[in-house]
Amino acid sequence: MGRPDYESWLGELVPRLKAGDTVLDLGCGCGVPATALLAKHFAVTGVDLSPVQIARAQRLVSTAQFLCADMSTLEFAAGSFAAVVSFYAIIHVPLEEQPAIFKSIHRWLRPGGYLLATVGSTAWTGTEDDWLGAPMYWSHADRATYIVWLEETGFEVLWARLIPEGTGGHTLVLARTSARHPSQAGEGDER
Ligand SMILES: C[S@@+](CC[C@H](N)C(=O)[O-])C[C@H]1O[C@@H](n2cnc3c(N)ncnc32)[C@H](O)[C@@H]1O
Repeated sequence: MGRPDYESWLGELVPRLKAGDTVLDLGCGCGVPATALLAKHFAVTGVDLSPVQIARAQRLVSTAQFLCADMSTLEFAAGSFAAVVSFYAIIHVPLEEQPAIFKSIHRWLRPGGYLLATVGSTAWTGTEDDWLGAPMYWSHADRATYIVWLEETGFEVLWARLIPEGTGGHTLVLARTSARHPSQAGEGDER
Protein backbone atom coordinates (compact mmCIF):
# COMPACT_ATOMS: atom_id res chain seq x y z
CA MET A 1 0.00 0.00 0.00
CA GLY A 2 1.20 3.50 -0.74
CA ARG A 3 0.91 5.43 2.53
CA PRO A 4 -1.47 8.37 2.36
CA ASP A 5 0.64 11.38 1.42
CA TYR A 6 -1.47 14.20 2.85
CA GLU A 7 1.36 16.69 2.60
CA SER A 8 1.80 16.34 -1.14
CA TRP A 9 -1.98 16.14 -1.72
CA LEU A 10 -2.49 19.38 0.19
CA GLY A 11 0.47 20.83 -1.69
CA GLU A 12 -1.82 20.81 -4.76
CA LEU A 13 -4.48 22.83 -2.94
CA VAL A 14 -2.61 25.30 -0.73
CA PRO A 15 -1.13 27.42 -3.58
CA ARG A 16 -4.62 27.87 -5.07
CA LEU A 17 -5.87 29.61 -1.89
CA LYS A 18 -4.98 32.75 0.04
CA ALA A 19 -3.62 32.79 3.58
CA GLY A 20 -6.48 32.99 6.04
CA ASP A 21 -9.09 31.54 3.65
CA THR A 22 -11.85 29.43 5.19
CA VAL A 23 -11.40 25.66 4.73
CA LEU A 24 -13.64 22.80 5.86
CA ASP A 25 -12.19 19.35 6.67
CA LEU A 26 -15.12 16.96 6.45
CA GLY A 27 -14.62 13.74 8.42
CA CYS A 28 -11.45 15.16 9.95
CA GLY A 29 -10.84 12.33 12.43
CA CYS A 30 -8.34 13.36 15.10
CA GLY A 31 -7.15 16.30 12.97
CA VAL A 32 -3.69 14.89 12.32
CA PRO A 33 -2.17 15.28 9.89
CA ALA A 34 -4.55 16.95 7.41
CA THR A 35 -6.40 19.52 9.57
CA ALA A 36 -3.15 20.46 11.30
CA LEU A 37 -1.37 21.02 7.97
CA LEU A 38 -4.26 23.17 6.71
CA ALA A 39 -4.42 25.16 9.95
CA LYS A 40 -0.88 26.45 9.32
CA HIS A 41 -2.29 28.58 6.47
CA PHE A 42 -6.06 28.83 6.76
CA ALA A 43 -9.06 29.32 9.06
CA VAL A 44 -10.06 25.67 9.33
CA THR A 45 -13.24 24.02 10.55
CA GLY A 46 -13.05 20.28 11.16
CA VAL A 47 -16.20 18.17 11.32
CA ASP A 48 -16.47 14.57 12.46
CA LEU A 49 -19.25 12.25 13.55
CA SER A 50 -17.19 10.81 16.41
CA PRO A 51 -17.11 12.79 19.67
CA VAL A 52 -13.93 10.94 20.66
CA GLN A 53 -12.16 12.04 17.48
CA ILE A 54 -13.39 15.62 17.91
CA ALA A 55 -12.09 15.72 21.49
CA ARG A 56 -8.69 14.46 20.27
CA ALA A 57 -8.67 16.97 17.40
CA GLN A 58 -9.43 19.88 19.75
CA ARG A 59 -6.44 18.82 21.85
CA LEU A 60 -4.10 18.19 18.90
CA VAL A 61 -4.98 21.17 16.66
CA SER A 62 -5.78 24.09 18.93
CA THR A 63 -5.77 26.60 16.05
CA ALA A 64 -8.72 25.02 14.22
CA GLN A 65 -12.41 24.96 15.13
CA PHE A 66 -14.19 21.62 15.43
CA LEU A 67 -17.78 20.47 15.26
CA CYS A 68 -19.17 17.05 16.08
CA ALA A 69 -21.78 16.46 13.38
CA ASP A 70 -22.98 14.11 10.64
CA MET A 71 -21.92 15.41 7.22
CA SER A 72 -25.23 14.11 5.79
CA THR A 73 -27.28 16.53 7.88
CA LEU A 74 -24.75 19.31 8.40
CA GLU A 75 -25.62 22.85 7.32
CA PHE A 76 -23.47 25.90 6.56
CA ALA A 77 -24.41 29.13 4.85
CA ALA A 78 -23.91 29.19 1.07
CA GLY A 79 -20.44 30.32 0.05
CA SER A 80 -18.91 29.76 3.52
CA PHE A 81 -15.68 28.10 2.37
CA ALA A 82 -12.88 28.64 -0.13
CA ALA A 83 -12.15 24.90 -0.05
CA VAL A 84 -13.49 21.65 1.36
CA VAL A 85 -11.25 18.64 1.90
CA SER A 86 -12.48 15.20 2.83
CA PHE A 87 -10.01 12.34 3.13
CA TYR A 88 -11.26 8.76 3.48
CA ALA A 89 -14.57 9.90 5.01
CA ILE A 90 -17.35 10.28 2.40
CA ILE A 91 -16.76 6.59 1.55
CA HIS A 92 -18.10 5.66 5.02
CA VAL A 93 -21.49 7.23 4.25
CA PRO A 94 -24.08 5.04 2.46
CA LEU A 95 -23.82 5.47 -1.32
CA GLU A 96 -27.38 6.74 -1.73
CA GLU A 97 -26.56 9.71 0.57
CA GLN A 98 -23.31 10.68 -1.18
CA PRO A 99 -24.70 12.71 -4.15
CA ALA A 100 -26.55 14.95 -1.67
CA ILE A 101 -23.29 15.50 0.23
CA PHE A 102 -21.59 16.71 -2.96
CA LYS A 103 -24.54 19.09 -3.51
CA SER A 104 -24.15 20.45 0.03
CA ILE A 105 -20.39 20.89 -0.45
CA HIS A 106 -21.00 22.72 -3.73
CA ARG A 107 -23.43 25.08 -1.97
CA TRP A 108 -21.04 25.73 0.94
CA LEU A 109 -18.20 26.65 -1.43
CA ARG A 110 -17.76 30.17 -2.71
CA PRO A 111 -17.57 30.69 -6.49
CA GLY A 112 -14.25 29.31 -7.71
CA GLY A 113 -13.93 27.18 -4.54
CA TYR A 114 -12.19 23.81 -4.41
CA LEU A 115 -13.05 20.29 -3.31
CA LEU A 116 -10.18 17.83 -2.64
CA ALA A 117 -11.62 14.46 -1.67
CA THR A 118 -10.95 10.76 -1.43
CA VAL A 119 -13.70 8.81 -3.18
CA GLY A 120 -14.03 5.27 -4.52
CA SER A 121 -12.11 3.75 -7.38
CA THR A 122 -14.16 0.59 -7.92
CA ALA A 123 -17.72 -0.01 -6.73
CA TRP A 124 -17.93 -1.86 -3.43
CA THR A 125 -20.14 -1.62 -0.37
CA GLY A 126 -19.56 -3.81 2.67
CA THR A 127 -18.53 -4.20 6.27
CA GLU A 128 -15.48 -5.72 7.94
CA ASP A 129 -16.08 -7.07 11.45
CA ASP A 130 -12.54 -6.37 12.64
CA TRP A 131 -10.95 -3.31 11.03
CA LEU A 132 -8.20 -2.23 13.42
CA GLY A 133 -10.28 -3.71 16.26
CA ALA A 134 -13.74 -2.41 15.36
CA PRO A 135 -16.44 -3.13 12.77
CA MET A 136 -16.23 -0.75 9.80
CA TYR A 137 -18.60 0.10 6.93
CA TRP A 138 -17.57 1.35 3.48
CA SER A 139 -19.62 2.36 0.47
CA HIS A 140 -17.84 3.16 -2.79
CA ALA A 141 -19.10 3.94 -6.26
CA ASP A 142 -16.59 3.60 -9.09
CA ARG A 143 -14.49 6.53 -10.25
CA ALA A 144 -16.57 7.24 -13.38
CA THR A 145 -19.74 7.50 -11.27
CA TYR A 146 -18.12 9.99 -8.89
CA ILE A 147 -17.00 12.12 -11.81
CA VAL A 148 -20.54 12.11 -13.23
CA TRP A 149 -22.00 13.00 -9.81
CA LEU A 150 -19.52 15.87 -9.37
CA GLU A 151 -20.10 17.23 -12.87
CA GLU A 152 -23.88 16.94 -12.53
CA THR A 153 -23.58 18.90 -9.28
CA GLY A 154 -21.80 21.71 -11.12
CA PHE A 155 -18.15 20.96 -10.32
CA GLU A 156 -15.40 21.07 -12.90
CA VAL A 157 -13.18 18.05 -12.22
CA LEU A 158 -9.58 19.24 -12.56
CA TRP A 159 -8.03 15.80 -12.04
CA ALA A 160 -8.78 12.39 -10.54
CA ARG A 161 -5.89 10.10 -9.53
CA LEU A 162 -5.60 6.55 -8.28
CA ILE A 163 -4.16 6.32 -4.77
CA PRO A 164 -3.07 2.68 -4.68
CA GLU A 165 -3.85 0.50 -1.67
CA GLY A 166 -3.28 -3.25 -1.71
CA THR A 167 -4.63 -4.63 -4.98
CA GLY A 168 -6.98 -1.68 -5.43
CA GLY A 169 -7.12 1.81 -4.06
CA HIS A 170 -9.08 5.02 -3.94
CA THR A 171 -9.56 8.00 -6.19
CA LEU A 172 -8.29 11.40 -5.07
CA VAL A 173 -10.18 14.11 -6.90
CA LEU A 174 -9.65 17.86 -7.18
CA ALA A 175 -12.70 19.75 -8.40
CA ARG A 176 -13.69 23.40 -8.59
CA THR A 177 -16.96 25.31 -8.53
CA SER A 178 -17.72 27.78 -11.29
CA ALA A 179 -16.10 31.20 -10.84
CA ARG A 180 -19.55 32.74 -11.15
CA HIS A 181 -22.10 32.47 -8.38
CA PRO A 182 -25.09 30.22 -9.31
CA SER A 183 -27.38 33.27 -8.99
CA GLN A 184 -25.43 34.85 -11.90
CA ALA A 185 -25.91 31.82 -14.16
CA GLY A 186 -27.25 32.91 -17.50
CA GLU A 187 -26.51 36.61 -16.95
CA GLY A 188 -25.19 38.05 -20.18
CA ASP A 189 -25.55 34.72 -21.97
CA GLU A 190 -28.35 35.79 -24.30
CA ARG A 191 -26.99 38.89 -25.95
C1 LIG B 1 -10.83 6.81 7.97
S1 LIG B 1 -11.20 8.18 8.99
C2 LIG B 1 -10.35 9.50 8.14
C3 LIG B 1 -10.00 10.63 9.04
C4 LIG B 1 -9.18 11.76 8.39
N1 LIG B 1 -9.93 12.42 7.34
C5 LIG B 1 -7.89 11.20 7.85
O1 LIG B 1 -7.75 11.08 6.62
O2 LIG B 1 -7.00 10.88 8.65
C6 LIG B 1 -12.90 8.52 8.58
C7 LIG B 1 -13.54 9.57 9.47
O3 LIG B 1 -14.81 9.92 8.94
C8 LIG B 1 -15.69 10.10 10.02
N2 LIG B 1 -17.06 9.95 9.53
C9 LIG B 1 -17.66 8.82 9.08
N3 LIG B 1 -18.93 9.08 8.73
C10 LIG B 1 -19.14 10.41 8.97
C11 LIG B 1 -20.26 11.27 8.84
N4 LIG B 1 -21.43 10.81 8.38
N5 LIG B 1 -20.13 12.56 9.18
C12 LIG B 1 -18.94 13.04 9.66
N6 LIG B 1 -17.85 12.26 9.82
C13 LIG B 1 -17.94 10.96 9.48
C14 LIG B 1 -15.28 9.03 11.02
O4 LIG B 1 -15.74 9.31 12.34
C15 LIG B 1 -13.78 9.06 10.89
O5 LIG B 1 -13.17 9.92 11.82
